[in-house]
Amino acid sequence: MLNTRQGALIRTVGLFRSTIRERLVREYDTTGELLVDLGSDQTSCHNPFSGGYCPVGLTEQEASQLMHSEPARFRSLVQESLRRHIAAINKLADKGLFFWDYGNAFLLEAKRAGADVEKSGAGKTEFKYPSYVQHIMGDIFSLGFGPFRWVCTSGDPEDLAATDVIASTVLEDISKGVSDLVRQQYDDNIRWIREAGKHNMVVGSQARILYSDQKGRVSIALAINTAIADGRIKAPVVISRDHHDVSGTDSPFRETSNIYDGSAFCADMAVQNFVGDAFRGATWVALHNGGGVGWGEVTNGGFGLVLDGSGDAARRVTMMLNWDVSNGVARRCWSGNDKAYETICQTMREHSDLRVTLPLAWRTRAAGQGSAALREEFNHKRSTPVSSQFYRALFQLCSVSGFEMNTHV
Ligand SMILES: NC(=O)c1ccc[n+]([C@@H]2O[C@H](COP(=O)([O-])OP(=O)(O)OC[C@H]3O[C@@H](n4cnc5c(N)ncnc54)[C@H](O)[C@@H]3O)[C@@H](O)[C@H]2O)c1
Repeated sequence: MLNTRQGALIRTVGLFRSTIRERLVREYDTTGELLVDLGSDQTSCHNPFSGGYCPVGLTEQEASQLMHSEPARFRSLVQESLRRHIAAINKLADKGLFFWDYGNAFLLEAKRAGADVEKSGAGKTEFKYPSYVQHIMGDIFSLGFGPFRWVCTSGDPEDLAATDVIASTVLEDISKGVSDLVRQQYDDNIRWIREAGKHNMVVGSQARILYSDQKGRVSIALAINTAIADGRIKAPVVISRDHHDVSGTDSPFRETSNIYDGSAFCADMAVQNFVGDAFRGATWVALHNGGGVGWGEVTNGGFGLVLDGSGDAARRVTMMLNWDVSNGVARRCWSGNDKAYETICQTMREHSDLRVTLPLAWRTRAAGQGSAALREEFNHKRSTPVSSQFYRALFQLCSVSGFEMNTHV
């Protein structure tokens, strides 16, 4: 593991025990060499006191026994270990390691344990280190891209292969008429879906996942539905998505961590999605909590929709997926994300029946009347920690027919 640098070649290392991070510090102290450039943590910190995090000094078996026999002592050992863990990371980061949170509540639990992860002057969802959701995925979600998936109920690999071809053809087709930023996302996913079959990654269900926006999800689902109708795919296909997505999840320390208007601590978007999906044609919906960051920290809304080749399935796909994605993009727009603003405006141009009320500053800017004062006012609202902005955004979402986004108090 310590031979991470070989000439110019930099390797990634998969698994460290907490003590290894301290070993890296000792190595730096002794040799002056920082052996690792990039670091994250993937322990199950969403559940640290019931087996997700093994404290330094204990084997997994000892940890498992102690957590049942002396839970309070186990908890204190986990917290002590997290403090040591962060102390080592802080030292390495001072020397140049780039560390980020993986979306596993690691920094949140470290902070609760009293570790030095505070970012001075920052809001409650920010820490000394960035989070991959907050600082990387956030913009991707704001573009409306998230993990869309489907399962071939025939269980036949040939059906899955047929859906791969359909998805890549559809994305290639629609990627011709989109902005460069959006095309980049399509290109990555076209490459993935073209090569997915070769990697033999299917275990169990014949299922696939790719990142797509609203347009891509609807187009792929409709094309699969047509293929079922004309017999190219033998049996119904179920579409769904991960909870780690644009709209379905309210999680202030993960999916909604880049929403800075104070509404990150509301659970309304997941509930809106759950209810909205149910009314717009989902075959089943789920509302649950705990996804990724632990019980009580997050609310998740999910769905499944069966494509059986019928006209009714096509109608439900269009109604439901349009809502499922745009709901979250609209919210992200209201929280001040430029990319979400551009995305929701583009979606409105493409769907005359969708009307999302835009925040005042955005509207005036779009009309070429933006003033510094308005911008300042908007920024002030963004940083005001009140959830009312989100409610206001929801109340003002309105549309007619097709996929209604009307919310009433
Ligand atoms: N960001 C995302 O998209 C995303 C996706 C999946 C999972 N997650 C989160 O990531 C975390 C990990 O998920 P997983 O499915 O890999 O969990 P897992 O339980 O399969 O793996 C966690 C690993 O951490 C090891 N571990 C525990 N304590 C350790 C310590 N002190 N030092 C080093 N290793 C230690 C365990 O032995 C285990 O192998 C979870 O909290 C999960 O919710 C995030």
